[in-house]
Amino acid sequence: MSHIVTQPVTLAAAAADLDSYWSQRVVASANGSLVKVAKGIGEVNWHHHDDQDELFLVLEGELTVRLRDDERDPAAERAVRLATGDLFVVPQGVEHAPVAREEARFMIMGRSITSTAAGGKPAWSEVPPAS
Ligand code: NI
Repeated sequence: MSHIVTQPVTLAAAAADLDSYWSQRVVASANGSLVKVAKGIGEVNWHHHDDQDELFLVLEGELTVRLRDDERDPAAERAVRLATGDLFVVPQGVEHAPVAREEARFMIMGRSITSTAAGGKPAWSEVPPAS
């Protein structure tokens, strides 16, 4: 399916419109990559993607990406904190778990939709968590 767009896409608004958290909507495609938007709150389960890098660009809010990317110590964790406007790429195969303390809206680029159970999507994400 082609996602070539002929009109501008307001990314933050497209992300805000989503009905559920940690769900991706494709808004465009280019050069074999899907441009997707999502919103998040709380934590995604640890996961990795064997088939693609995962690029994050924060549109609104703050997103922390927990990573296990130390080849000498696979259990070692670090956290990358992304503010609005920050970009980060999780390399193919690297274990990661995005976290948002408050609602964050972001763009993701990659080859396919990754917001699945295998992609770390938590079961509660279809409805807002109880506050
Ligand atoms: Ni991921």
